[in-house]
Amino acid sequence: MTRLHDCFNAQDFAQVARRRLPGSLYHYIEGGADDELTVRANTQAFERHQLVPRQLRDIRQVDMQRRVFGCDLEWPVFMAPTGMTRLFHPAGEQAVAQEAARFGAGYMLSTMATTSLEDVADCATGPKIFQLYLLNDDGLNRAIIDRCKAAGYDAICLTVDCVVAGNRERDLRFGLTVPPQLNRRNILSFVQRPSWGLRYLAHGGITLPNVPTPDGSSSLGTLTSYFATKMEQNITWARVEQLQQYWGGPFIIKGLQSVADARDAAAAGVTGIIVSNHGGRQLDGSPGVLDLLPAIVDAVGDQLEVVLDGGVRRGNHIVKALALGARACLIGRPYLYALSAYGQPGVARMLELLRRETERTLGLIGVPHIDDLDRSALTHLDSQPVNRPVLLSTGAQRSGAYS
Ligand code: GLV
Repeated sequence: MTRLHDCFNAQDFAQVARRRLPGSLYHYIEGGADDELTVRANTQAFERHQLVPRQLRDIRQVDMQRRVFGCDLEWPVFMAPTGMTRLFHPAGEQAVAQEAARFGAGYMLSTMATTSLEDVADCATGPKIFQLYLLNDDGLNRAIIDRCKAAGYDAICLTVDCVVAGNRERDLRFGLTVPPQLNRRNILSFVQRPSWGLRYLAHGGITLPNVPTPDGSSSLGTLTSYFATKMEQNITWARVEQLQQYWGGPFIIKGLQSVADARDAAAAGVTGIIVSNHGGRQLDGSPGVLDLLPAIVDAVGDQLEVVLDGGVRRGNHIVKALALGARACLIGRPYLYALSAYGQPGVARMLELLRRETERTLGLIGVPHIDDLDRSALTHLDSQPVNRPVLLSTGAQRSGAYS
């Protein structure tokens, strides 16, 4: 049995999570769309960028503070909005929001969360952003924005890449149902995880209290299908501008991947964008997000804040994204693995490891303040196949330094 302190990275936590969760839930976290090319591309993109160490710098104090989307962060990281979190561990969203605050990061609460936005606001002292899915009923959209105003959220983040559901074959293969129900595909995996089952039964009554409904119902089974029929499939920029005005505070769009869309977002006057392919869970075959970042930052980085979401597993990944111009990064799967494996103490350890890695990496490349990071901190293995060992005979020949 692996103990908490024998986990040193996201992969270690993923292995424990795999042993503790019923298969359908583990694969729901782990999986992506179709052939999962984009899931892999997200992490591989980080491997193709290498850090350039600099020495003889004063690194006695490493400073990672930054204001992003109106949130004061001590570490430029947000917990990504994730749905159904209490299914993985009953400590759920509140545990993650509390640990994010303790480690100086921000927390993004999903519309599909299993804890109410008011309960998260009551228990977590750090910066909080509400992630909104737009429904085809503006009364309901406004009702949820009103709740966010009353609860004191710092920003609204509109996710725009889910108007069509991605094809997640692991969910079909491993029999994921919401709420969890036994069926011929998953029965063995639930029987093999009795401690998860007992915990789930003890903390039953999982609901989706942030999905706005006309009758106030929040039961998991009815809401997931209701939600599918209510999702707005025609989100226009005019609508974005109206919502932004109604909210009146920092407003973010999550799920853009092209320079053209980023320019439209800048024209609409949003506070920022999150470059994201939804963790490879929507369109398979799109590039790793880190590869998209430089062109988007070059196009709009002086007009709005650009944040990266996708593939971050290490502190050095965070540093690479910041060096390419991201103002901050989101992490999703790493904290879900840790929560599933060990509950709140797992999340605390995962965040502590990642934060220390970020600081250590900055020290090793001789950049004591994140505002001094730029592309000179990186070289890029231009066309190296990422799965083969990379033999650099002369670095200058085979790697392209950014100017
Ligand atoms: C929800 O956003 C999901 O990707 O499952």
